[in-house]
Amino acid sequence: MPLTKLNLGFIGGGVIAEAILSGLIRSGLNPQGFFVSEIKDSRLTYLSHKLGINPVRNNFDLVKNCDIIILAVKPAVVKEVMLEIGQEIKAEQTLISLAAGITTGFVAQFMPEPRAVVRVMPNTPVLVGEGACAYCLGTHTQDKDKERVRAIFESAGKTVEVPESLIDVVTGLSGSGPAYMYLIIESFASAGVRLGLPKEEALILSAQTMLGAAKMVLETGEHPAKLKDEVTTPGGTTAAGLFSLEEGSLRAIIMRAVEKAALRAHELRK
Ligand SMILES: NC(=O)c1ccc[n+]([C@@H]2O[C@H](COP(=O)([O-])OP(=O)(O)OC[C@H]3O[C@@H](n4cnc5c(N)ncnc54)[C@H](OP(=O)(O)O)[C@@H]3O)[C@@H](O)[C@H]2O)c1
Repeated sequence: MPLTKLNLGFIGGGVIAEAILSGLIRSGLNPQGFFVSEIKDSRLTYLSHKLGINPVRNNFDLVKNCDIIILAVKPAVVKEVMLEIGQEIKAEQTLISLAAGITTGFVAQFMPEPRAVVRVMPNTPVLVGEGACAYCLGTHTQDKDKERVRAIFESAGKTVEVPESLIDVVTGLSGSGPAYMYLIIESFASAGVRLGLPKEEALILSAQTMLGAAKMVLETGEHPAKLKDEVTTPGGTTAAGLFSLEEGSLRAIIMRAVEKAALRAHELRK
């Protein structure tokens, strides 16, 4: 069944719920199909005014009204919410958890069997329709659950399926990734400014270069090493710049950063 025929509800209307809702609405979906329940009235008013979604006063009513329920509360609140709604989830509904570090098994224990949980690790560029999201399927998930999660997150970017054992790696790569990319964009812009470019122009050139390179990888399907090779003239400017990056061990630094973040995600679960 297409997403347009299903009601989608968020429990928790914070940063990530707003980003996903904005991305979905931007993709052309009708906000009247979206519901949010939140403990803060001010947040509900803000989201309904800004996005035109349906505010719901309590989590229980949201579960009664929605085909897909997205848990978008902080990890520490998941147990409390599941104790409240877990027994109300029906087999034809799909429960999606966004909570970092919370396993599908943990969420499923609050529901009668056989109920499905899908765990998703999104990132904030869903706001502009360019999210990089990964999902894993818990036990009892059916084709309909997979179709629904893909339909939602493909409306707001790109989505891949991974085994649950690799979700921490996803957190370290694409979950935390936007912050790394912002740092790189900022650094390139600063380099331009240092060498005399006006700030605004340096930032546009830096950010657009990252966007363009990413599109080249995704749209040509070529490996980045081949694309890099194609723009590197022997003895030229790019070769000189690349040598400097290799000399500074850029590759190893980035690999270490993703490893550190993945380990941190693992630690936070304990
Ligand atoms: N932000 C990201 O980039 C990102 C990325 C990937 C995954 N996630 C995951 O997404 C989840 C939400 O993150 P977030 O950054 O959006 O958090 P957030 O901004 O704190 O949003 C959660 C919202 O839920 C509300 N809430 C708390 N208890 C509730 C309850 N019992 N019923 C309904 N609403 C309740 C919170 O209100 P109070 O503030 O009053 O508690 C808050 O407004 C987290 O589990 C996080 O791990 C976030």
